[in-house]
Amino acid sequence: MPDSSAVHFTNAFDIRSVGCSGDPTMFEAFWRETGDAAELVIPGWQTMSYFSDVGNVCWFMEPLFDQQVRRLHRTVGNAAVDGYHVLVGTGSTQLFMAALYALSPADADQPTSVVSTAPYYSSYPAVTDFLRSGLFRWAGDANSFVGDSYIELVCSPNNPDGAIRDAVLSSGAGKAVHDLAYYWPQYTPITRRADHDIMLFTVSKSTGHAGTRIGWALVKDREVARRMTKFVELNTIGVSKDSQLRAAKVLGAVSDGYDVGGGGASRHRLFDFGRRKMVERWRMLREAAAASGAFSLPAETSGQCNFANETAANNPAFAWLRCDREDVEDCAGFLRGHKILTRSGNQFGADPRYVRVSMLDRDDAYDIFISRLASLK
Ligand SMILES: Cc1ncc(COP(=O)(O)O)c(C=O)c1O
Repeated sequence: MPDSSAVHFTNAFDIRSVGCSGDPTMFEAFWRETGDAAELVIPGWQTMSYFSDVGNVCWFMEPLFDQQVRRLHRTVGNAAVDGYHVLVGTGSTQLFMAALYALSPADADQPTSVVSTAPYYSSYPAVTDFLRSGLFRWAGDANSFVGDSYIELVCSPNNPDGAIRDAVLSSGAGKAVHDLAYYWPQYTPITRRADHDIMLFTVSKSTGHAGTRIGWALVKDREVARRMTKFVELNTIGVSKDSQLRAAKVLGAVSDGYDVGGGGASRHRLFDFGRRKMVERWRMLREAAAASGAFSLPAETSGQCNFANETAANNPAFAWLRCDREDVEDCAGFLRGHKILTRSGNQFGADPRYVRVSMLDRDDAYDIFISRLASLK
């Protein structure tokens, strides 16, 4: 290999090795072993029309995708689906925007305030404000919000710190959007069947297929579902059918792994794989932080998981790492100097002594991160 490409590879690897983006490549190892269970061939003449199911509120949603979403939630028991509309989006990010559009009164004098308890997912303020909408506006930490009219984003388990959260505001005119991207058994015990008005999910974090760009919303109210669908219609005239069919295939393969009643339970069990990996990675991380002595992590919590039928720990998809050294005020800068790229706490409305680190990188990158962290004093 010529010298220049060797240098390029080293740089690229360094960036990957610290995984500040949350790219869920950890799951590739699982899907490599599943043979044709999640494979899909689409003939040239298929998925050509804009339309999928004209009788459905979400007219561009493939019926098979709808079915597999409902089946997986029934299998896992993490969210209610009966009486809910399923909507598909280009990632749950598009449905998050659709929810802001649907919940903001068109005739209000002022843009509706969008809030979330800090530390909050850094995309919430960025996505809310990037088009400078007259309908809604980012208003920061929900705990310091004063007023009656708002949209509260509730992320549970929370990105970046893994906390289990409930809404903190409760005015009659306020609305909540529950982002449950991480409410899956590999990350947290499934303690109840969530039944909020609007719940967002994504294959990015449930199965690891972030590149397929498919998310879904479970929405109770038909008018809200209709308005969210309108947003997607105006934004992208629907959602890739090819991606929907792939997502349906992948979700179906996950459910098949646990379909004991149907006799189809395969040996490929995504949540078992994911939980094993996350338990191992969190053990490694806590040992590395202890060996270093310079960092602290959120305390481990656990609960009864109704899906696994046992007590399970919370194993968040991100580590919310605090640098305890008195001389370090910018933890991200300090770690960058030691070839560990992270996202600074200030991007999440929090103290820059904190950083967010992805726990979902590939094994080789994660191992390098752990050994670099353990060696820091
Ligand atoms: C809490 C949360 N919601 C949504 C998303 C984005 O999901 P998607 O890839 O489906 O747009 C992420 C991605 O990191 C996330 O952490």
